[in-house]
Amino acid sequence: MRKVVPSVLTNDPKELERKIRILEPLVEIIQIDIMDGEFVPNTSVSVSDVQKVSPNKPMEIHLMVKHPLEYIQPFAKIGAFRIIFHIESGDNPADVIKEIKNFGLQAGISLNPPTPVEKIMSYLNSIDLVLVMGVNPGFQGQKFVPQVLSKVKIIKDINPNIIIEVDGGVNPETGIDLVKAGVDILNVGSYLFKNDTVKDNWAQMQRIANSIE
Ligand code: DX5
Repeated sequence: MRKVVPSVLTNDPKELERKIRILEPLVEIIQIDIMDGEFVPNTSVSVSDVQKVSPNKPMEIHLMVKHPLEYIQPFAKIGAFRIIFHIESGDNPADVIKEIKNFGLQAGISLNPPTPVEKIMSYLNSIDLVLVMGVNPGFQGQKFVPQVLSKVKIIKDINPNIIIEVDGGVNPETGIDLVKAGVDILNVGSYLFKNDTVKDNWAQMQRIANSIE
């Protein structure tokens, strides 16, 4: 069964709480976007803001930061189950994976649209998930880059058991192509809160995620 995971991207703790309380009754997993203003030209809430809100659903943390090693222990301590970092970040990927696994968490690697799959190949057997970015990271509401679709097949050919999540520009139109390409998780940000009909938008994305066997 394919999943839909909502992503919450904000630097406002009140907005974080508002969105998480709306999502909690609907979803299985919540992704929280963390940004340092250096790896991406935007900043987000902090680990203590997330701790104060303390979502009652499993947290996946998407680290859009230059030094992910600094964030692993703090997010492990507040109960994250999966941490995703960028292959383009400044820390040694093998060290980051090791640190995440040391806390017993799932490890994921993300790659930006221009980054080829070759860059993550040597890690595909030591991680649980690949987060294929459908947009350049840092902001919601951007247009999906269709060229990233080809990465899904390449990755699945190398490791059929790895989970592939696509993040950025996912909505009902792009969702269909992603499901056809073999994606396991559709990550949805701005589309879910469109017209403030979160429940309907969520149900629609669930239908699309499972529209093909
Ligand atoms: C962007 C973030 C995404 C974003 C998705 O850098 O990583 O998770 O929240 O938002 P949409 O679905 O609006 O592109």
